[in-house]
Amino acid sequence: MGILYGRHILLGVTASVAAYKSCELARMLIKAGAVVRVVMTEHAAELVRPLLFETLTGNKVFMEMFPEMRDDPMEHIGLADWADLFLIAPATANFIGKAASGVADDLISTTFLTVDSPVIIAPAMNSRMWQDPSVQANIELLQERGVGIIGPGTGELACGTSGEGRLANLDTIFDAVVGILNKPGPLSGRKILISAGPTREFIDEVRFISNPSTGRMGFMLAGIASSWGAEVVLVHGPTHIEPPGFVRSIEVISAEEMATAVLNNAPDADIIIMAAAVSDWTLPRIDGKIKKKGRDFQKLELRPTKDILAELGKQKGTKILVGFAVETENMIENAREKMNRKNLDMIFVNNPREAGTTFGAATNAGYLITSREERKIPLMDKGELARIILKRLVDILSKTD
Ligand code: CTP
Repeated sequence: MGILYGRHILLGVTASVAAYKSCELARMLIKAGAVVRVVMTEHAAELVRPLLFETLTGNKVFMEMFPEMRDDPMEHIGLADWADLFLIAPATANFIGKAASGVADDLISTTFLTVDSPVIIAPAMNSRMWQDPSVQANIELLQERGVGIIGPGTGELACGTSGEGRLANLDTIFDAVVGILNKPGPLSGRKILISAGPTREFIDEVRFISNPSTGRMGFMLAGIASSWGAEVVLVHGPTHIEPPGFVRSIEVISAEEMATAVLNNAPDADIIIMAAAVSDWTLPRIDGKIKKKGRDFQKLELRPTKDILAELGKQKGTKILVGFAVETENMIENAREKMNRKNLDMIFVNNPREAGTTFGAATNAGYLITSREERKIPLMDKGELARIILKRLVDILSKTD
């Protein structure tokens, strides 16, 4: 029995070149047990023939607002009621614009307005279109209204250029669908704030101090927590890895921006996990590029950043706080000291000198420490580690309820 067994997924296809990928997406969803119906725009049907989707899904493709021989005169309402989830992949700038402004001039945009179920939009377009302020504003608006936005990814685009605008990875879209449809889970009703990735502290306009963190650990935690039903806010620094698209993400650059984003979202959270490798130091702002000659690099004025986790520890209340520590010596004692100093419930500590535990690796090993126990974690995939951490948090929550 597939993970999406019996779920009704309405797949909206609009006229991006990536439309051909929706065929594979439909196949993946069906293979996982879902029943898929496709609604497409007429332009999309010029790129991929509806017959292909009909063959793949075993269901009629819906396209026209006023078909001559109507099976169902209120097709858009019928489709909207039928759907457990409405997934529009690929979504063009045109569709996104219509969705954001309430224009309903074809079956897919009309269905968007009538649907009650969760909606996921996976944009695909030229990178300049994607970056256009109007598209960005529309995306923000849709996000605010609770629409899940997945991607876009970065890479080669159909127009021959490369950049941000590719349809997100199909696995990512699939995971988002699973994440949303598999609620409720062990973390349903819980709000979790997670930080991930590095921060950058600029020395001048073209150079910065950072670390090799990729955000992978925090992204795993965020993706799994969400698929376990939690409402997740993910605050992450700059990284080449795509965060899980179905999680609400806030991208920041500096430690100061991270502090603001985390502290602003903290009051609502039941659990806060600081997996980010926040810079301990920052520098005063310098305009332009420092020349090698004329200014002494050794006189860079490093100043401590705000310790976000310590700040959260001071206003802890009933929240559960989790920290990460990287220690090259006295791992357990140092981690315990950090846990007490920052008023934490749990800390994961690793030694980056051990094989498979360097920054950015897909694996990690170390100790998961609470006031009561020290659990040795052998080398494992970060996804597995995320599951262990979250499982432990579910146990702690069940005891505090
Ligand atoms: N952290 C934070 N804000 C900072 C620095 C770190 O919230 N400015 C968080 C990290 O996200 C991590 C934990 O604190 O969860 C680890 O902090 P770390 O830098 O190891 O601890 P420090 O108190 O700075 O101690 P050390 O002297 O070992 O650097």
